[in-house]
Amino acid sequence: MSLYLTTPIFYVNAQPHLGHAYTAVVADTVSRFHRLLGREVFFQTGTDEHGDKIVQAATAAGVEVKEYVDRISALFRETWPLLAVEPDNYIRTTDPGHQAVVQQILQQVHERGDIYFRDYSGLYCRGCERFITEKELVDGKCPDHLTAPEEVAEQNYFFRMSRYQQWLIDHIKANPDFISPERYRNEVLSFLSEPLEDLCISRPVSRLSWGIPLPFDSNFVTYVWFDALINYISGIGYPDGPDFTRRWAAAEHLIAKDILKPHAIFWPTMLKAMGLPPYRRLHVHGYWNVNETKMSKSIGNVVRPAEMVEQFGADTIRYFLLREMSFGLDASYSDQAVLARRNSDLANDLGNLFSRSLTMVKNFCQGRVPQPGPLGPEDRELANAALAMLADYREKMEQLAFRQALEAVWEVIGRANRYIVGNAPWELAKDPAREERLRTVLNTLLETLRCIACTLKPVMPAAAARMAAALPLDPEANLADQQQWGKLPPGAPVTVGENLFPRIKQAK
Ligand code: MSP
Repeated sequence: MSLYLTTPIFYVNAQPHLGHAYTAVVADTVSRFHRLLGREVFFQTGTDEHGDKIVQAATAAGVEVKEYVDRISALFRETWPLLAVEPDNYIRTTDPGHQAVVQQILQQVHERGDIYFRDYSGLYCRGCERFITEKELVDGKCPDHLTAPEEVAEQNYFFRMSRYQQWLIDHIKANPDFISPERYRNEVLSFLSEPLEDLCISRPVSRLSWGIPLPFDSNFVTYVWFDALINYISGIGYPDGPDFTRRWAAAEHLIAKDILKPHAIFWPTMLKAMGLPPYRRLHVHGYWNVNETKMSKSIGNVVRPAEMVEQFGADTIRYFLLREMSFGLDASYSDQAVLARRNSDLANDLGNLFSRSLTMVKNFCQGRVPQPGPLGPEDRELANAALAMLADYREKMEQLAFRQALEAVWEVIGRANRYIVGNAPWELAKDPAREERLRTVLNTLLETLRCIACTLKPVMPAAAARMAAALPLDPEANLADQQQWGKLPPGAPVTVGENLFPRIKQAK
């Protein structure tokens, strides 16, 4: 099985922040996890560079639009390596290849009769970059942007989305995994229980010139969503690239709840009109708040990835983001909460287990993997727990239940720490008659650490690589290879390196 995984392409009207970082980290973790299972993965991210909001941001910054989008797009691109996020492709909607694909699709859908022209007036939310319905408003305002929409009356082109409504409902019902978690699937089905309006897909050039011109009417440019969503296929070589069909069959999109409707409704119906199968799955996560408050520029509480990483390091931030948010629900960020996780879960639980175990192997077993004797009940109990954890971890990761996957790993870390106390290897080391028992206990610990190191590869790549190197564990080993006991060859050298996660005294 293979996977083609995407993040949304981010608007370049703002600099990267915690929310973007979360989606990117999740996508990177899922990619690494699938690779750990030996699967082929293609991971794409990028930037969305057309539309009103971008022009406004460039004007506010006092630069040409193209110069502005180049600068912010580069900023996103440079942010990902700081978080050890390694996409295979970085797409921009200003790429000439992408623009050509968008025009080709518009032409094709137009010829097919699914695009028509008419007068239109409606309520337009600049924040959403779309017309919104009366029903969506809360106290006369867009609930996401807390601003009143503008009345806009103009002639425009429309995509006959309504034609595909019943098909979409049937598809969602026949494929229970198509949209997850379930709350979002239900939200979409409930929205689809009312008649769907056609989608306005153009803007007059007089109102907006920063967009892709309609191939059949140069007085209009494409509406941002019609342009942006197509990145998911233009980025993998639609229509006739050699990998297109294979990759598209494995497509899964990762988004937050803010852009559910475009992804769950506009996009599948667009694909249907183009004669393409829908994506395989859509995964929807919740929103990060900061200190329990909505993150916003005006409040001044926007958290920047570069600052988080500078303070805590990429591994700690990745762990925190995945451990703290239940996928699908909202969560709250604070430096204090990161600090607490760093010092308790990482420095205390994991870091101590690792350094204590390796130091004992160095001191009592000449720094080599000891040959174990027969396993006693407490050894078997830890071994069984570690192996069961690998299976549990795998199942939870497949469901994007990162929090539960990590809880399962930390449960074993806790057990292993208690096992050390219960078996007191330093006491065994004093008695030559108990040398075999000592070797068994330390071997059991190393084997447990091997299982733990393997699970951490997708989450904390740098720390997991250091653990693997110390043990020593084959860095290329896949998860299935690790699901047995006794994989570390007795006699192999074990190295005690630096502390994995030194304690951090205070958040800045
Ligand atoms: N350009 C569109 C997407 C087009 S995709 C074909 C867009 N861009 S965006 O820059 O606003 O990014 C929205 C996405 O950023 C969310 O779906 C989510 O992935 C991420 N997040 C932005 N703020 C967030 C939080 N506060 N919390 C979690 N994720 C958030 O929409």
